[in-house]
Amino acid sequence: MSLQLRVYVPEHPLIKHWLAVARDINTPSVLFKSAMTELGRWLSYEAVRTWLPLMDAKVQTPLAECDATFVNPEVPVAVVPILRAGLALLDGAHNILPVASIYHLGLVRNESTLEVSCYLNKLPDRFLPETRILILEPMLATGGSIMMAMKEIASRGVASENIRIVSIVAAPPALQKLSEIYPHLQIYTAIIDEGINDKGYIIPGLGDAGDRAFGT
Ligand code: URA
Repeated sequence: MSLQLRVYVPEHPLIKHWLAVARDINTPSVLFKSAMTELGRWLSYEAVRTWLPLMDAKVQTPLAECDATFVNPEVPVAVVPILRAGLALLDGAHNILPVASIYHLGLVRNESTLEVSCYLNKLPDRFLPETRILILEPMLATGGSIMMAMKEIASRGVASENIRIVSIVAAPPALQKLSEIYPHLQIYTAIIDEGINDKGYIIPGLGDAGDRAFGT
């Protein structure tokens, strides 16, 4: 697979651990949801490392004035969970980005045709071009949902350089499609798996992330 976009798989023991918990068929729904929250937290932590804009300032400590660096509050930060499964990553991501605005995007795929359709779109008409957008989509499989999400977001005025995707398991078909259209995109994922089956599920993957997180 030759990709132009950058896919980061952070070498972190907690990411490995929670991925193993999430993959295990014997993990009950309540623990699966905790694993997704933790993966959302640690992968978002990695994703924002070189993406949040900073601002130099001075602060007065109780003892003296000194130089300080803040996250620039003038630059909007948005988190877009792709429903349903992306909701499972939201608590962890929002925990490290508490002032981010949350824009829900509900996408569903037809299980026979694998066609994706949108049933909820809370995105604004336009984003400010400098807005930093973190998309939460745990399973990058065929690429249908993430391509639709990217199109909806990019058409609202944000360059792909300002967008980062947090996923848990990524597969080559989705990465290839994203790379062809968005070569400057950066993706943070716990693992890249070998492929997808004829039903669009990632192998070995972790099953249906939405069903497992919500127990339905
Ligand atoms: N969506 C899922 O929840 N799991 C997959 O393996 C692929 C898409």
